[in-house]
Amino acid sequence: MHPLHLPGSFFFIIITFVLIHAHKFASSVDERYEKCNRTFACGKIKNIGYPFWGSDRPDYCGFPGFQLNCRDSFAEITIMSVRYHVLGIKNEFRLLNVARPDYRGDLCSIFLFNTTLDPDGLFKFTPDTQEINLYYHCALPPLPPLTSLPSTPPTPPTPPTPIQCQGEMDEYLRHFTCNVNGVTFCGYYLTRNLSGLPDYIAKISGFLGSCGKRVVLAANQSEIQSMEERPSPSPSPSPKGENLAKALAKGFGLQWNASNSLCDRCRGSGGQCGYNTVSNKFSCYCTDRPYDTVCPTPTGQFVTT
Ligand SMILES: *[C@@H]1O[C@H](CO)[C@@H](O)[C@H](O)[C@H]1NC(C)=O
Ligand SMILES: *[C@@H]1O[C@H](CO)[C@@H](O)[C@H](O)[C@H]1NC(C)=O
Ligand SMILES: *[C@@H]1O[C@H](CO)[C@@H](O)[C@H](O)[C@H]1NC(C)=O
Ligand SMILES: *[C@@H]1O[C@H](CO)[C@@H](O)[C@H](O)[C@H]1NC(C)=O
Ligand SMILES: *[C@@H]1O[C@H](CO)[C@@H](O)[C@H](O)[C@H]1NC(C)=O
Repeated sequence: MHPLHLPGSFFFIIITFVLIHAHKFASSVDERYEKCNRTFACGKIKNIGYPFWGSDRPDYCGFPGFQLNCRDSFAEITIMSVRYHVLGIKNEFRLLNVARPDYRGDLCSIFLFNTTLDPDGLFKFTPDTQEINLYYHCALPPLPPLTSLPSTPPTPPTPPTPIQCQGEMDEYLRHFTCNVNGVTFCGYYLTRNLSGLPDYIAKISGFLGSCGKRVVLAANQSEIQSMEERPSPSPSPSPKGENLAKALAKGFGLQWNASNSLCDRCRGSGGQCGYNTVSNKFSCYCTDRPYDTVCPTPTGQFVTT
């Protein structure tokens, strides 16, 4: 063996050792940690991480109830079986801005569902969110009698209907008209929370009493206020409730609680927040394995908070 070859072989052995070592080190990072370290983007929303999951983030990287479906470049979330478009996420404040896609354009939705939050308290309305009451399938005013056809025998007078599809009633109560599946009906919407206004309820109950369905929606308070202040264009302001639909399209705020404080502690210790779908508990994924709340420090001591 030529002595000049020795340093080369030695170098080769070291490289091989380092490569094997590096491979061992890389594969020792827990897969769940690696997967939950990823964020995803959908449409305009970037950096979607915990508590959300979906796309290439498996369910164990998020919290149950926080699945986002990316559809037509909109992130969608389903709360109490109702679909919402996610318009924005503010991770640092745990805020979500959502809107109902079924009220885009006008109020004449075919399926009528309330905006209801889950009873477990995963979401809460932000203080600038207010409720909107919509009343559907209210009776139409009677048609005017046909007087221009002389050969028609006289029709019996139509009995007066108690409910009239009236015009602008006041700044809080307005009407709209829908034609859904060939049926035309009046609708009303009310941009005030009725609790605490018993006199007002008594005044309007005659109009609303026989409406077939009531739907409670949520809207951004300042959007509703500016809609109320805007003078209505005449003669036909927003026949299908387009004004309100525009305000609804801006979305409303939700605050989330998905084991927020546990997640803060987990992140503080260098872990990735997640959820153990077997034990149904929060999980903190660390580079070696999952822990209940926090990652151990390199010396094996748990970080205390
Ligand atoms: C986790 O993600 C960050 C930022 O995307 C990246 O810098 C880091 O290398 C990732 N860590 C691991 C272990 O993949
Ligand atoms: C919406 O909620 C209100 C109040 O709880 C209820 O009266 C109404 O029937 C609900 N509407 C629908 C469509 O479920
Ligand atoms: C409506 O008002 C009542 C009482 O003032 C309050 O308890 C309730 O939370 C309000 N609802 C909304 C959606 O603001
Ligand atoms: C409500 O609308 C106002 C004014 O446009 C905006 O500043 C605020 O961020 C909105 N709130 C939410 C929760 O979207
Ligand atoms: C968040 O939820 C947890 C239980 O899941 C509860 O203990 C905690 O008080 C909630 N925090 C807030 C701010 O509601």
